[in-house]
Amino acid sequence: MKHLLSIESLSAEEIAHIVELSAEMKATRGRHAAHPLRHQCWALIFSKSSTRTRVSFEVGIRELGGDVMFLSAVDIQLGRGEPIQDTARVMGRMLHGAVIRTFAQSDVEQFAKFSGIPTINALTDDEHPCQILADLFTIKEKLGGYEGKTICFVGDGACNVPRSWMWAAAKCNFQLNIAAPRNFQPDAGLLASLDSDNVHVFENVETAARGADVLYTDVWVSMGKESESTFRIAQLGGYQINREMLRHAAPDALVMHCLPAYREKEITGEVFERHAQTIFDQAENRLHAQKAVLSLLAK
Ligand code: CP
Ligand code: NVA
Repeated sequence: MKHLLSIESLSAEEIAHIVELSAEMKATRGRHAAHPLRHQCWALIFSKSSTRTRVSFEVGIRELGGDVMFLSAVDIQLGRGEPIQDTARVMGRMLHGAVIRTFAQSDVEQFAKFSGIPTINALTDDEHPCQILADLFTIKEKLGGYEGKTICFVGDGACNVPRSWMWAAAKCNFQLNIAAPRNFQPDAGLLASLDSDNVHVFENVETAARGADVLYTDVWVSMGKESESTFRIAQLGGYQINREMLRHAAPDALVMHCLPAYREKEITGEVFERHAQTIFDQAENRLHAQKAVLSLLAK
């Protein structure tokens, strides 16, 4: 594995290996035998806000022996129009790896190509691979595995997080039910390219949630979509994790949220607090899963 650009580009075996390594990273935190990023300097280049991804990468890189710098895209020449290819060629000569959060998936791919250094997608409009790897690890930790399970995603079914979930379901052996209103369902082209029977899209929340082992949601208004806020909140109104939805899921179903959470929008405050242990374990697991990825990418 040279980069982590998407779940789409990983195999089921690579995903399973990262999940296994995440457990090892978690179990040996503070006493790792190896520090594969020693003498390395990595950069985080972010064009969008972040709490979890930024902190977990900054801590994770340091815990693996590396040095890290945070670069807000608006503070470097990229923000004044320097092409991504030139930014990548400069950084590739100085840094050992890059973690990028931006809008276009093609920017992360171009950076990987032109820099020649390991490049990690820390969220684009198309995918959030680090999130889904940590989530699969969390599901394995709590349910013993993700294979054979049914995961129900409710909310904006067309944004980055469900898109990465779709690729994970297509590759790994689990079912993904997406509950979303028509305007926010994954596009037909993507569904066709998955070439998988593991992904089902529903307008009806109850049908999608029936018997699910995991109920999962994400914000209704993703970063970059703020101008659509009013429309999105009106359209997505019924697509919420609440007590009623939980009644249709398997008994003891996990409730997961990638965070940040907006109470009484995509999840009720009551259900969120009742499942806070899982949700914050999920957030913590970002650190362990990303350390697994970093250790595999470190040369
Ligand atoms: N879930 C997630 O990626 O959170 P941040 O946007 O805070 O990094
Ligand atoms: N879909 C959300 C994920 C946040 C972690 C966004 O892109 O803003």
